[in-house]
Amino acid sequence: MFRKLAVRDLPLKGAKVLTRVDFNVPLDKEGRVADATRIEASLPTIRYMMEKGARIILMSHLGRPKGKRVEGQSLAPAGEKLSAFLHKKVVFADDCIGEPAKRAADSLKDGDVALLENLRFHPEEEANDDGFSRQLASLGELYVNDAFGSAHRAHASTVGVTKHIKLCAAGFLMQKEVEYLGKILGQPGRPFVAVLGGAKVSDKIGVARNLLGQVDKLLVGGGMMFTFLVATGLDVGRSILETESVPVAKEIMEEAKKRGVALLLPSDCLVSSSASEEAETRAVSVKEIPADMVGVDIGPRSVEEFREALSGAKTVLWNGPMGIFEIERYARGTVEIARMLADLTSSGAVTVIGGGDSAAAVTGEGLEHRVSHVSTGGGASLEFLEGRELPGIAALSDKL
Ligand code: 3PG
Repeated sequence: MFRKLAVRDLPLKGAKVLTRVDFNVPLDKEGRVADATRIEASLPTIRYMMEKGARIILMSHLGRPKGKRVEGQSLAPAGEKLSAFLHKKVVFADDCIGEPAKRAADSLKDGDVALLENLRFHPEEEANDDGFSRQLASLGELYVNDAFGSAHRAHASTVGVTKHIKLCAAGFLMQKEVEYLGKILGQPGRPFVAVLGGAKVSDKIGVARNLLGQVDKLLVGGGMMFTFLVATGLDVGRSILETESVPVAKEIMEEAKKRGVALLLPSDCLVSSSASEEAETRAVSVKEIPADMVGVDIGPRSVEEFREALSGAKTVLWNGPMGIFEIERYARGTVEIARMLADLTSSGAVTVIGGGDSAAAVTGEGLEHRVSHVSTGGGASLEFLEGRELPGIAALSDKL
């Protein structure tokens, strides 16, 4: 149960609502928003507040400008995109504090929306500076945090500001993320299968350890599989390997055994002479990876073994691609997992994609509406799944 105040609980009519969103979106070479997923994900909260007659002041970071104004990291393009989604002019303030911000906030009528310039143009944002938090807080009477993707950051706009506004509530996206990711850690329908991939074991150690207490099966693919394979005594050629994580991989396998969790590693993989578009590739057993080749995807036999392991699952969590999916020839394992999850969802399973690259893979296949939930959080969803308390959520007011 979500015990925090929710946007529905707020007296919104005529109130200035300072709202933290995560509009940290990629921009293309022309400076336009290249992927608006995160902006779209915040629309239910923004539209709801508009309908209720709130005066909405949105704030976000974009990129890591390190406390300086960087023109290529302005939020103005995100404001334009939002205007297009809302069919309404969004007032853009050239700074997130001071006169420009105050002017924008004061210009709003009921149902209007303003967007403040990138919070991280000021070093005080990431320093969670109290004076800066106060300046932000002075813009609104109520506070809503819908930025799940930034909830693992204890910054001025996610934590500091909550000390200076009485009612601080979660938006719909924040609630939805906590609901789905919480299901995974709470009482998942069984069998519960987790699929972990991505390049590095070190990024996923906390998640793997925490999930071992929850899952029935753990499938490991992606670059991190090679560290596990080395831990079982195999050679992986020139594949990506985190030598320092081999002992941890061993520990995770032993822990899985102790807990009766089936930990499944791929039995074959696609290898290539180099991880490039043109290189020669073939599928080999993981026991026969040639010394001069690089593993780039799970192999066709492993795809079938993973399909078998997933069949009948009632809950599935997936985090991390199965190979170098940005290159089409090495994307098959990742794409197949995305399709398997879509099919399982149609048969009634709860399927959750833990953000980042696996989310991009699902969206790339147009399957985002055929799974239960695609998290908008990268680091935030990982920390949540590690079982850690996210400061941006903890700081919200408790339910009245
Ligand atoms: C993200 O993209 O994961 C969030 O927006 C947080 O960004 P950060 O890692 O730069 O804090």
